[in-house]
Amino acid sequence: MRVSTGIPTLDKILGGGYLPKSFNLISGSRGAGKTLYTINYLLWNAEQGKDVLYVSLEESWDSVISNLPNGMAERYAQVKKKVHYLDFGSLRPLIGREALNVRTLTEAIISSIKVHQADIVALDGIAPLVLVYDKERDVRSAIFEISQRLKSVGATTVFTSEETEGKISRYGVEEYVADCVAVIHYDGVKRRLQVLKMRGSEFIGGKHGFVITKKGIQVYPRVLPSVEQTVKKPEEFGIKGMDELLGGKLTPGDVTMLTGPPGTGKTVIALLFAAKALTEGKKVLYISFERMPKTLISILKNMGIKIEPSNIIYVNPMDIDPYEFMWKVHRKSEGATRVVFDGINAVLMEKEEYTHMIHTLFNYLKRKGVFSLITYSTSDIISSYTLGDPYLTHISDNIINLRYAEIGSELKKILLIIRSRTGTHDRSIIEYRIGRRGVTILGKVEEMEGVISGTPRHLEIKKRVEKFFK
Ligand SMILES: Nc1ncnc2c1ncn2[C@@H]1O[C@H](COP(=O)(O)OP(=O)(O)OP(=O)(O)O)[C@@H](O)[C@H]1O
Ligand SMILES: [Mg+2]
Repeated sequence: MRVSTGIPTLDKILGGGYLPKSFNLISGSRGAGKTLYTINYLLWNAEQGKDVLYVSLEESWDSVISNLPNGMAERYAQVKKKVHYLDFGSLRPLIGREALNVRTLTEAIISSIKVHQADIVALDGIAPLVLVYDKERDVRSAIFEISQRLKSVGATTVFTSEETEGKISRYGVEEYVADCVAVIHYDGVKRRLQVLKMRGSEFIGGKHGFVITKKGIQVYPRVLPSVEQTVKKPEEFGIKGMDELLGGKLTPGDVTMLTGPPGTGKTVIALLFAAKALTEGKKVLYISFERMPKTLISILKNMGIKIEPSNIIYVNPMDIDPYEFMWKVHRKSEGATRVVFDGINAVLMEKEEYTHMIHTLFNYLKRKGVFSLITYSTSDIISSYTLGDPYLTHISDNIINLRYAEIGSELKKILLIIRSRTGTHDRSIIEYRIGRRGVTILGKVEEMEGVISGTPRHLEIKKRVEKFFK
């Protein structure tokens, strides 16, 4: 039986959790969250009824406890009886270098483990234990000795070290002794956790999301679990005439992208797409990067459609962690047949993580058979040839481009099907109208040329002009 790290998703990353009777390193820069990680490990195991032991070697126990986020402090209050501690942190200024003998300290830890029958142990900050040694070889054998002694009494230990100057640990030897090595990176905005070593099993590599919340630590793996196809039948888009334009109904797993400048009705179309499933009693997840749920609910209400407020989520595009977002969609889309991403262009994040997230998330939704719709706002009002993010167009099965065109001295709305899964879509230029009731597809713009440029001419007039000059 593995021992839980205190974070179920991290247990999955590690192939089940820590090995029993193992010595495991959590390393990271200052303030990365190492202490909170160790406390989270202890609290979780204490909540399972185990006795746990915290050995503070640098920070005093009082300081650790008083710096806990609210929710973690509450968790601690619940299991206080199970949480034991050895506070060398507060003794440190009082005792000399001599007293920090590795044997004495180790024996104190071992007897505390025995007294409390606590085999879940955290050693926060290993420096004082090895401070007396100058040579790397001696530091390594000291850490090795501690690990062996702790294992021999059955303890599963987490110990911390600092990442410094390109080294993943303070002394550069901790990772050799440890059975599992995980590093927390913090760039001042977001935290990432990466497993570098796990004895005895495979692990999921790469940087995963690491988030400190009030209640404890969350890890958001960079991959999503495999999934069965749950939606199996083709469905209508939800706007009269759209299926004919696309060359057939939507196929399960289809990603449809709507691109176009502001005001062309992307959100209205997205709401109608959502409404189609809602009126059939199916669940929809609507993620809005622009408008607040209240606004969307009232637009739908005017169309006579009800949606559960919990199925609309507003995500601040400036403030999103790709992995946290991916897992939120994963959880919230449970049971949904349609998912809408409205205004995805506003999302700003690091390129590598963004493309990875898009790829992982849409692959997941495609496999599940969910019908997804992405709206993407382009900036040019007239004559824009850009469709938006090439990565999104790449994963989209259907692409609908919305535009303005000046027809008969009026600015009209037109749409083009750029791509469809069927490949048999309508290739004409289609005029449509957005009204209070929704979208009306009016039909082909005929006898015109140059519509795409935004300033079309009647073919009939052109012919007459040409004839005149001949
Ligand atoms: N509720 C919270 N939400 C988000 N971040 C929090 C919360 N509470 C604390 N933090 C952050 O956690 C960090 C402190 O975590 P912790 O003490 O575990 O770090 P550490 O790696 O042990 O640091 P040190 O190297 O100083 O020992 C701080 O950066 C703090 O801003
Ligand atoms: Mg700390």
